[in-house]
Amino acid sequence: MSIQQLFTQKDGIYLLNHSVGCMPANTRDVAESQFFDAWEMGTPDPWARWFPVFSRFQQSLANLFNSDPNLFCPQQNVSSGLSKLLSAFPHASKNKGRNVILITENDFPSIGFVMQQAKHYGYEIQFIKDEENVLDIEIWKQHLTDQVYAVLITHGHYNSGKLVPVRDVISIARQQGVMSIVDIAQTAGVIPIDFAQWQPDVVAGSCVKWLCGGPGAGFLWVNNHVLHQLEPVDVGWFSHKNPFEFDIHNFEYADNALRFWGGTPSVLPYAIASNSIEQMHSIGVQVVREHNIRLGRQLIDALPASWLVSPNDDQFRTGTLVVTPPNRQEVEARLTALNVHFDVRKRGFRLSAHIYNTPEQIEQVIAAMR
Ligand SMILES: Cc1ncc(COP(=O)(O)O)c(C=O)c1O
Repeated sequence: MSIQQLFTQKDGIYLLNHSVGCMPANTRDVAESQFFDAWEMGTPDPWARWFPVFSRFQQSLANLFNSDPNLFCPQQNVSSGLSKLLSAFPHASKNKGRNVILITENDFPSIGFVMQQAKHYGYEIQFIKDEENVLDIEIWKQHLTDQVYAVLITHGHYNSGKLVPVRDVISIARQQGVMSIVDIAQTAGVIPIDFAQWQPDVVAGSCVKWLCGGPGAGFLWVNNHVLHQLEPVDVGWFSHKNPFEFDIHNFEYADNALRFWGGTPSVLPYAIASNSIEQMHSIGVQVVREHNIRLGRQLIDALPASWLVSPNDDQFRTGTLVVTPPNRQEVEARLTALNVHFDVRKRGFRLSAHIYNTPEQIEQVIAAMR
C-alpha cells in the first residue's frame, strides 16, 4: 500500500497540516469496532471495552515519545491540560521569591490566555518580546532568572515556523531551578521528539495536526519527579487512585499522571487518535521530517529569498513554511484557483507539506506562486 493510500486524500493540494492532518484511511473502521460496536454490544456495559482505549492511547504516545505510558494523561486539548497544571501550582507566596511565569509573545494565544490565569495563584507573567530572537539560547538565559518559577517553551511557533531549541532551553531551566513546560502542538508527528533526551518537567500536546488524530485527543505528560508535588484542583473520579472506591469522604490522587484527568472521559477521540499515532509511528516521524524538509527546500529554493518569513535553516524551521509575496492578493488568488489548501496569517501564507504530499504537487504550487 502506498503512503497516499494510508490517508484519505482530499481534492486539490492539501497544505493545512499545521491545522488538521488528513484522516487515516481506516479511521471509520476503528471508530466502528472500538467505539460503536462496544456501545452496542459490549457487556456487561460498554466500559469493559472502552477502558482499554485509554491505555492504548497512553502506550502509543509512550512509544512515539520514548517514555513511560503512566506519565501521560488524556486531555481534551492543550489549553485544558495546562489549566489543570496551573491549578496544581503552589501559591506564589510560598515559592521564596519565585513568582514569575515566563512565556513569549509568539506562543499560541490560547495558551497565553491560560498561562495568564496564573495571576489567580499570585504569579506575574513576563513575556519574551516578539523582537527578541527565541532561537538564540542567550536570550533564554537572560530571562531565566531566579525569580522565574516556570517557563512555557513552545517547540514550534504557529505564526513564524520557528523551531525553538527546546532541549537546550530545558537544560538551562533545569540548572536555574525553573519548571519547564513544553507545548508540542505544532511539532508532534513532524519533528522527532524524545522525552528521555529532553528531560522536561511537563509537556502538553494534541493529535489533531501532524499526528492526523482528529480533534479532542490532547494529552499532558508529567515527569515523575514533579508529579507527586502537583495536586490539581480540577479533578474528578478518574483522577482518583481507585476510581471505584466511591467513598465521598476520601479523595486520593492517582499515583501517576492520571491525577490530572477528571470526570467521565470521552472515548471516541482517543480510539481514533491511538490508531493515527500508531500509523505515524510505523511510518516513522524521522521519515516524515525528511520528506517535509525535502518539499520545504523545493519551495524555498524556487521562490525569491525575500519572500521567506520562516527560518531558512532547516534545523530552526518547523514543518510549516511561512512566505509573504509582495503581491499577496494576486498570489493568493492563483493558489486558490489551483485548489491549494493553505491559510493566510498576519506574517504570511502558511504551507505545510506532510508525508502524503508529493514533489509534483509542490512544483504546481511553485508555478502558481511565481
Ligand atoms: C503552538 C500551539 N499550541 C497550541 C495550539 C492549540 O491549543 P489547544 O489544543 O488548546 O486548542 C495550537 C493550535 O494551532 C498551536 O499552534
